[in-house]
Amino acid sequence: VPKVTVLPPELASQIAAGEVVERPASAVKELVENALDAGAQRVDVEIEGGGVTLMRVRDDGAGMSPEDALLAIQRHATSKLRSIEDLRTIASFGFRGEALPTIASVSRFSLRTRSREHDTGVEIVVAGTAAPEARPASAAPGTVIEVRDLFFNVPARRKFLRSSGTEAGHVVDTVEGLALASPGVTLTVSRDGRRVREWLRASSREERVHAVEEETIACRGERGPLMIEAFLTRPEQARTGASGLRLLVNGRSIRDRALALSVAQAYGSVLERGRYPRGVVYLDLPFELVDVNVHPQKAEVRFADPRAVNDALYSVLAKALASALALPVPSRGRWTPAAQPAPAAPPTLQEAAAVTPAPSATGEPDPWGLFGGLAAPTSPPASASSHEPTHVERSSAVATEAATVSNATAPSSPRLTGREPVSASGALWSVGEAAAPAPLRDRSGVAWHELTFIAQVRQTYLVCEGADGLYVLDQHAAAERVLFHRLRAAFLSRTVATQALLFPLALEVSTEEAGFVEAHADALLALGVDLRTRGARTVTLHAVPRLLERSNPEELARGLLAELCRSGGRAFSEAIDLALAQLACHGSVRAGDPLTREEAEALLRALDDVDFSGFCPHGRPVVMVTPWGELERKVGRR
Ligand SMILES: Nc1ncnc2c1ncn2[C@@H]1O[C@H](COP(=O)(O)OP(=O)(O)OP(=O)(O)O)[C@@H](O)[C@H]1O
Ligand SMILES: [Mg+2]
Repeated sequence: VPKVTVLPPELASQIAAGEVVERPASAVKELVENALDAGAQRVDVEIEGGGVTLMRVRDDGAGMSPEDALLAIQRHATSKLRSIEDLRTIASFGFRGEALPTIASVSRFSLRTRSREHDTGVEIVVAGTAAPEARPASAAPGTVIEVRDLFFNVPARRKFLRSSGTEAGHVVDTVEGLALASPGVTLTVSRDGRRVREWLRASSREERVHAVEEETIACRGERGPLMIEAFLTRPEQARTGASGLRLLVNGRSIRDRALALSVAQAYGSVLERGRYPRGVVYLDLPFELVDVNVHPQKAEVRFADPRAVNDALYSVLAKALASALALPVPSRGRWTPAAQPAPAAPPTLQEAAAVTPAPSATGEPDPWGLFGGLAAPTSPPASASSHEPTHVERSSAVATEAATVSNATAPSSPRLTGREPVSASGALWSVGEAAAPAPLRDRSGVAWHELTFIAQVRQTYLVCEGADGLYVLDQHAAAERVLFHRLRAAFLSRTVATQALLFPLALEVSTEEAGFVEAHADALLALGVDLRTRGARTVTLHAVPRLLERSNPEELARGLLAELCRSGGRAFSEAIDLALAQLACHGSVRAGDPLTREEAEALLRALDDVDFSGFCPHGRPVVMVTPWGELERKVGRR
């Protein structure tokens, strides 16, 4: 029978090290966090051999007295918390009193420190589980910690380390996260004697972010007790996976898939699924609304109300991004029917959202009042006022004129300059209408219809001549954008014309998809897709939007259902832009479709009528422009 024994503290420490110190970067994280907790203004990190041979972290913080220094390397010794209550409101990075003894137990460790009140400092040396040795030492105020031969006494761990290049990369990445958390501190990283990164003291988060990511869109907002400040890249710079997106909760760099997804979804239809922007999101909320003690490396936190945080993040970012990118204002959020415009007005997306309200809008308690500001907006968001009228105007035009591409050839085809009234009445966009700022449409300022179509190349690109340069358009992306816009306008005005199929089409689908159809048949019909449930795994398709007549109805229905079900059980209304983008993709001219001159020219004119025409609904750029000057330089004429 095995005997139960209490492990000696050194061994307990080594076992704990498995969780806290996974690789050099995790040790560097602990050491730099300690330096920041000690109020350092400058922290220098040096590594050799990817950090395995040596990690040295030097700070000019408070330092420690000799007695404190000896205590600091014992387990569960901390200056940062006194009672379990303190943990609820912890503002420092550290609180467990674990990091130093843990690192010391798996390395050759030395600590040199002096506090400003002491004339001499102390040096303490620990090798693995051996007893620490302390001696007086001269030192500048602050602390230097050296960690050599990481895992020298845990060979199994060492085997899991990667190349020194990879480990060094993780170290730099970790310090960058901490630099973003503490803009006022100067941090440096040197590798094998060479300075590889440096973040000079910055006066704001924004300035610090710009040392890391050059061009970002600043988004700021508050919801109840939650403050959000984010700096995100434009959709063209999106990446597959969320690795370029940093989330900082109360200054802690954390991972959170749901939050990252909310950030991506805030881009609406211009980001394809699975793609994420790069950038930094700062979330600040009262300490008691977030538990930081849930992960050994403190790389995750738990929110008291994760849904409220996600919804708030989404709504703040979506609003800011919509106006920065001239996107349609997305629909996710908690809008109550009371907040809707007079019944005579065409429905807004918010109203459409109310048709199938998000589950959270059904009177679920909102203990922190996170949505006080959202429930009943007194005035629509600025970007909404600039967009909705646009849709109203055009949607009626689309509805009455069967909306073929050639409709856009009408000379009144609105081209936005912000100066001329463009609608028939002129009222909505007239000059000097202070309440309605000029719609942020088509930033490129290109009057597409003024381009001269030259040729279609590779049956994919349209080459055009403009006054200022050579334009190459992706025909599929452009057609998709036009179709998306028309579908959306029709949807908003509830005038989606449908085309009945000659014979209903039976489709085998997943039970989830069948359930979705059952629950949302009306909403699907509003999109122009008449789907009905027939059995637990069978649905029948009866009609498709007339605008999509040319598409394969089965593919269209399957693509749409897959997209909506992938949206992860979110309310249908939240996925409308995605659904429309999916539909537009099916119905559009494809790469490889030959286009006649008339078709190409009609497409160009139609682009003038579209929001955000520089991008297809999936966020790919539609057009590439080479200014004449650049062309001339390239061929050596200038
Ligand atoms: N660079 C430093 N400057 C000043 N004091 C330090 C420094 N590093 C550590 N200390 C002191 O040593 C104590 C122990 O540090 P350690 O990292 O082990 O625990 P902690 O930071 O309190 O909690 P955690 O284990 O969560 O990091 C700290 O509470 C702090 O008082
Ligand atoms: Mg610590």
